[in-house]
Amino acid sequence: MKVQIITLFPEVFEEVLNNSMLWKAQDIGVVNFEVINLREFGIGPRNQVDDPPYGGGDGMLIMVKPMVEAIEFAKKKSKNAKVILPTPRGKNYVQSEAKNLASENNDLIIVCPRYEGYDERITDWVDVQYSIGNYVLTGGEIPAMVIIDSVVRLIPGVLGGEESAEKESFQSDDKSIEHPQYTRPEEFRGKKVPEVLLSGHHAEIEKWRMKNQ
Ligand code: ADE
Repeated sequence: MKVQIITLFPEVFEEVLNNSMLWKAQDIGVVNFEVINLREFGIGPRNQVDDPPYGGGDGMLIMVKPMVEAIEFAKKKSKNAKVILPTPRGKNYVQSEAKNLASENNDLIIVCPRYEGYDERITDWVDVQYSIGNYVLTGGEIPAMVIIDSVVRLIPGVLGGEESAEKESFQSDDKSIEHPQYTRPEEFRGKKVPEVLLSGHHAEIEKWRMKNQ
């Protein structure tokens, strides 16, 4: 899966994409990331990417031309890629969306708007708009990372224990996904690990885990 990210802040992706599971996913060859600097598609000698809104109002909007040209540039490398726009106005991004994106195994292009917003015409070049929650962030970079992380970990081979992702696939969106877990020591400052987990009774442990999800 090729994932291209269009952003004004390419450097913020460096650490996130090149560590832990996202790094591993690249290392084993199941995903390939490319970060595209929207500024390179800016207009004029100052590579302008934003402008004030028609009709007045605060702030600046990402202009349609640089963003659409950046999307077209990305599409040349990934013809059938799904174009994703993170926005608080989008559909709720939940676990089933992550599962669908992972199983479709389409390439992705994620566009990160910034500042106060974007020219609405950009959405004509977008396949799906997602909100990662009912709050407003300053840009699409953090939502893009959320989407990438949640999808890539579901690609077979990435988590190692295939089973973990498999188990989750039966979970519904509105349930918490994991039961509480504990490791050594058995007691820390008077706080003990639940007895059943030390018992060695697999059926009882499974029952406890189901109950405590
Ligand atoms: N951009 C700003 N806030 C957002 C949110 N909650 N979800 C997705 N994109 C956003």
